[in-house]
Amino acid sequence: RRVIFSGIQPTGIPHLGNYLGALSNWVKLQTSAQRDDVLLFSIVGWHALTLPQDPTRLQSSREDMLAVLLAIGIDPTRSILFHQDHNRHHTELCWILSCLTPMGKLRRMTTWKSRLAASRNASSENDIDDSLLNAGLFSYPVLQAADVLAYRATHVPVGEDQRQHIELTRDLADIFNRTFSRHNQPPLFPLPEYVEAPSKRVLSLKDPSSKMSKSSPDAASRILLTDTSSQIKAKIRGAVTDSIPGITYDPLSRPGTSNLLTILAACTDSDVVQVTKRYENKGHGHLKSDVTDAVEEVLKGPRTEFERIRHEKTFLEQIAQKGALQAMEYSAATIDQVRRRVGLS
Ligand code: TYM
Repeated sequence: RRVIFSGIQPTGIPHLGNYLGALSNWVKLQTSAQRDDVLLFSIVGWHALTLPQDPTRLQSSREDMLAVLLAIGIDPTRSILFHQDHNRHHTELCWILSCLTPMGKLRRMTTWKSRLAASRNASSENDIDDSLLNAGLFSYPVLQAADVLAYRATHVPVGEDQRQHIELTRDLADIFNRTFSRHNQPPLFPLPEYVEAPSKRVLSLKDPSSKMSKSSPDAASRILLTDTSSQIKAKIRGAVTDSIPGITYDPLSRPGTSNLLTILAACTDSDVVQVTKRYENKGHGHLKSDVTDAVEEVLKGPRTEFERIRHEKTFLEQIAQKGALQAMEYSAATIDQVRRRVGLS
């Protein structure tokens, strides 16, 4: 039996990178799941607090995210859909795992390293100075490991940028198992696997040397799941490509063009090499117009559904409440075992 767990931060409406790199895969896994597979999808509010958040906006982003996940097809009768902050077992397990986590492992996380680098540029000093960064940002991957391990998950569908965090989760599961399996007890945690989506890394439309992200200041660099068809059209028309004639798939020397091909292939559920063949003798204008149609086709259903349910407050609250109870019931068995094994039961 598989236990599938994944999460997303409630920091605004998700973009096409979130969707193609993770969310669409959640829906696929839900569709193909066996009867006794367990699926859990979480809106991770505690993770969002590692960066400054306006409380009113965070509150409404959490509701947006719940509505988006329902709108793309996460089915609360099939999957456990819940807010991370409704289940305190995550923070309890996070503390216990923190006490088993070597600092060196956290220092090697690329997400931490890029935060350090950014703060160094800002202060224009050469010395590495982490005094302005909060401790939550540093221990963030431990909370992520706790999210996964609280349910003894076996599979974690995420984009490539999260891969290193899943490897850390495996390490921490293994450390716990080795530290706390006395008297021939079987290991408590399975080592969860990273599940890759076909388009694990969608790039920024404005700067194809970086990934599409929520935090980029340029809103034209990303397509949001709720963008209108004219917004989608304008953003793709303005996507940075190159001046090489013809269309070829070459992520290293033609990242912008290749990114459009990746998006087209993902939105039409086809192979990128096959897709590229159809554009051999065509230009960027033609490609962009087809990408626009394909993205619109994928997003129009979720957009309409989002508009329909976003303001159904009672409905959304009921879903969140039911999810929280189910999640807590599920993680209680793990936490009980964890407490016993560490001597805190
Ligand atoms: P978050 O909220 O940044 O992103 C949610 C998911 O979207 C994927 N993603 C992308 N995939 C392809 N191309 C992109 N440009 C792109 N941008 C984002 C991310 O890989 C992710 O799968 N730490 C996590 C949330 C989290 C989590 C967890 C995930 C917390 N606990 C436990 C799995 C299991 C995060 O910040 O994702």
